[in-house]
Amino acid sequence: MSKKLDQDVDERSLKPLAIEGKLPLKAVGIENLREANPGHLPPHRYLHTWFARRPTPASRLAILASILPQNTSADDLLRWMQIGPKKDLDESRSNYVERKKATENERSGNLADHYEYPRSFTQSPKKPEREALHEALRDHWDGELPNVLDPTAGGGVIPFEALRYGLPTNANELNPVPSLILRVMLQYAPKVGDIESEVNDWAKQIKQRASTQIEQYFPEREDGRIPDNYVCTHKIRCNSCGTDIPLVPKWWIRTRGDRIRVVSKPHILEDGTLSYEVIVDPTEEDLQGFDADDGPISRGGDAECPNCSVVTEDDDVRERLKQGEYEFEVYCVRHRNRDGSHGFSSPNVADQEAIKEAQEYIDSDFELSTFLSTSIPKGNKTTEPRNYGLTQWRDLFSPRQLVSNHAYVEAFNHFQPEIEEQHSKDTAEAILTLLTLGFSKLIDRNARLTDWDSSNGYPSQMSKGKNYAFKRVFVESNISSGGVDFLSYVNKVYDSYDELVDFLSEDVQPANLSIGDAAHLPQTDNSISAVVVDPPYYSSIMYAELSDIYYVWMREILGGVFPDIFQQSLTDKENEAVANPGQFDSIAGDGSSKRKLANDSYEKKMSSIFSELYRVLEPGGVMTVMFTHKETDAWDTLTMSLINSGFTITSTHPITSEMPQRAGMQTSASADSTLLLTGRKPHEERDHENEIPTLWTDVKSDTRAAAKDAARELLNSGLSLTKTDVIISAFGPTLRVFADAYPVVDDEDNEVKPRRALEEAREAVTQILVEEYLKVEGINDLDDVTEWYVLCWLVHEAETFSYDEGRQLGLGIGVDIDEIKRSTKTWRKSRGDISLRGHADRVQNINEKPENRSSRTPVNPDDLSFGLALDKVHAAMHVYDVQGESACCDWLRERNFDSDSTFKSTLQALLQVLPHDHEDWELARDLAAGRTRDVLDLDFSPNVFAEDSEQTQQKGIDEY
Ligand SMILES: C[S@@+](CC[C@H](N)C(=O)[O-])C[C@H]1O[C@@H](n2cnc3c(N)ncnc32)[C@H](O)[C@@H]1O
Ligand SMILES: [Zn+2]
Repeated sequence: MSKKLDQDVDERSLKPLAIEGKLPLKAVGIENLREANPGHLPPHRYLHTWFARRPTPASRLAILASILPQNTSADDLLRWMQIGPKKDLDESRSNYVERKKATENERSGNLADHYEYPRSFTQSPKKPEREALHEALRDHWDGELPNVLDPTAGGGVIPFEALRYGLPTNANELNPVPSLILRVMLQYAPKVGDIESEVNDWAKQIKQRASTQIEQYFPEREDGRIPDNYVCTHKIRCNSCGTDIPLVPKWWIRTRGDRIRVVSKPHILEDGTLSYEVIVDPTEEDLQGFDADDGPISRGGDAECPNCSVVTEDDDVRERLKQGEYEFEVYCVRHRNRDGSHGFSSPNVADQEAIKEAQEYIDSDFELSTFLSTSIPKGNKTTEPRNYGLTQWRDLFSPRQLVSNHAYVEAFNHFQPEIEEQHSKDTAEAILTLLTLGFSKLIDRNARLTDWDSSNGYPSQMSKGKNYAFKRVFVESNISSGGVDFLSYVNKVYDSYDELVDFLSEDVQPANLSIGDAAHLPQTDNSISAVVVDPPYYSSIMYAELSDIYYVWMREILGGVFPDIFQQSLTDKENEAVANPGQFDSIAGDGSSKRKLANDSYEKKMSSIFSELYRVLEPGGVMTVMFTHKETDAWDTLTMSLINSGFTITSTHPITSEMPQRAGMQTSASADSTLLLTGRKPHEERDHENEIPTLWTDVKSDTRAAAKDAARELLNSGLSLTKTDVIISAFGPTLRVFADAYPVVDDEDNEVKPRRALEEAREAVTQILVEEYLKVEGINDLDDVTEWYVLCWLVHEAETFSYDEGRQLGLGIGVDIDEIKRSTKTWRKSRGDISLRGHADRVQNINEKPENRSSRTPVNPDDLSFGLALDKVHAAMHVYDVQGESACCDWLRERNFDSDSTFKSTLQALLQVLPHDHEDWELARDLAAGRTRDVLDLDFSPNVFAEDSEQTQQKGIDEY
């Protein structure tokens, strides 16, 4: 059969899905934003720290649109997603949501009232809705409900949402730490239900037992006040005079100007040690001669002796820490008064002594003396603690922290048999798991990596920074009596669990959960209808490395409960799909960098995961991959491995989480948004190996045509999409053409990568956008740089956007943006993004003498001719701005700009593409009005009255 015929058969039998059509992306994007703001997040997020969690609306869309047929209306989809009010509307749901978003600032009450419907994640579909949904699904999937698999389920939002819709659900995850979250969400919540009193009872018993063992290390103050937290540091000894040097950068304990301020003031004692005087709300007099901002440790890490001022250099300080030549020192205590209120007090001798007692106990106790002595492995994030001499997991805890945290482990182990005896297996497991998650929150706030948060006056969370950064100042907490409290953490975990239980319907079946490598799934061949996957992405997060600190503690508690998942001493890094350069330290060299090796290994793993997913999918089945928008530069690799696994790529959609054009967005970094890439498993297996390659010249025009068709259709769809949405949505059909023609080669028989097709698509769609929105004559006659500058504003509608997208836009018109960066200063890099420069950054000050002007500003307004059309207009803006209209008229005349078509086209284009609250837009408007307009002999004029917010959107010139 010819390739063409082969495809036609398959097209017919791949019944199109909603995700392969147009989606209400903007409304879903708005709902994503609502999830994060304000306040309470989806409950599963409070169960335990996990890194990189997806918003519920995006996940719901990925699931539902992947399984519903293409004729599902946007309204039905949004209704099932619980987006928009329950009542019937006399406009489309998309419209409704977008209208609410646009009028957010005009509201009088709170956001919830304004939208008139609750945030969608708080709502599960009601029974009739589920039934209607199921009916539509059964119709499409030959009478059965499609089953869903998330192979890298992490924090679990995808499979949990699948359960909420009553779908048969499968979840897999490699890492045991999130596997506990998954157990709670996907198995205990549907199966075990309410166990509040059981959880509370056992929590109390565990706390009580642990507390009696550790109370002695938290001595009460004489007046009965109880210490809650100790602000601690490390102290080394001055080589020169023998005085203690505490490694404290600033002496502030609380800094919030508007609330109380607290400072700890050191005093040098005769024996070279220090005592600390904690002052609440210090007066000027208290602070006289004392600079609380100037602690012994400088920014660079040098330590200055408080007595003789001799400096111990950074390297030396680190070496002393590494060699263990330091002691812990408490320099402030946060205590609880009898009435429950809090205060701050100076540490006393007993506080310091307790640290020593804890150490003595550790040394004398058989179990504790070797507890958690597993080595911290070499890695990417673990380099820092290792450099400070923290080489075993126990080293991440001060003696008092180790003793206290361990007391809980002992108490858990003590009660485990009783818990298992008194409850059914599932209930006992659920109780122990929920309690362990609560305990893990204690660890998060009671480690040497736990910061003191001086603006809130409370221990911070170790997990916050997504790293293992060494902390010179850290907090010890009294976990026997509420410093950070086990019971309140257990309550938090339980509350989340309880909400999850409420979100599920009575008749829901627990998900099928597996713990292991997604490249080796337990599912049989052809057994899954839909895969929805949010995979790890290169080196963005080192999940396994970061979770080890929790794993080692969880293993001590749950090792006997779940022996199969806690077998290994640490989490699995071997099979993890991340690009971790730290793992290639010993192999790198000979021309292959660590990063390259790490990237290759990631790509290889992802590719075997995709092949595995292909295996488990039924023919005609669908896979939707979610990743973030900024990561488009890796599409090549990703799409190649999808195609190689056998998938036909059918669609791509961006779900923006932020609205461009809104006030404030212009300068902020490009929005993170979720991207959906969908592939299908064809009925007829393709054998790429033996296929005759197609010539790129034959495919090229088809890819362009596919992209253009898709773009036109989207622009006519009535759905409001951003221009980037249109470009990315056109990638899907383009990739489909490419994948159908795969493998593709050029004239010299070299393999052509999908990137070429995407570049073609981007260029073709940009052309359509120009035709649609930029009605300026002569735009194609402009120089490339000016054209690129205008296109960037046109497409992104914001000053800042992703570097890769700007680069690709340049490629399409032959501009190497890195090459022009220094010479033209049209853009700068801002946190890895592109930030476009306006006239103010580019034009020298005409009022300054030439010798006083900055040589770094490229455009000289005194010049009579300019390199770029953009330079002419920017210079004119400057002259108008600083010398006024009349001088500007002369300036324009001297340069004959009245007969310069490139000047006029550029000015006209900028008027159309710049946001109206941009300074340059205002100047462009002024230039195109009044006397300068006459001088320039313009045949267009801006609508100077168009100042309201509606008008800040780009419009075709007809509308001026
Ligand atoms: C982006 S996260 C998923 C987040 C999840 N969608 C959520 O919203 O919470 C990716 C997950 O893939 C897991 N992972 C990494 N390598 C894996 C492998 N080989 N097999 C299965 N899971 C893996 C990581 O542990 C991580 O939890
Ligand atoms: Zn000294």
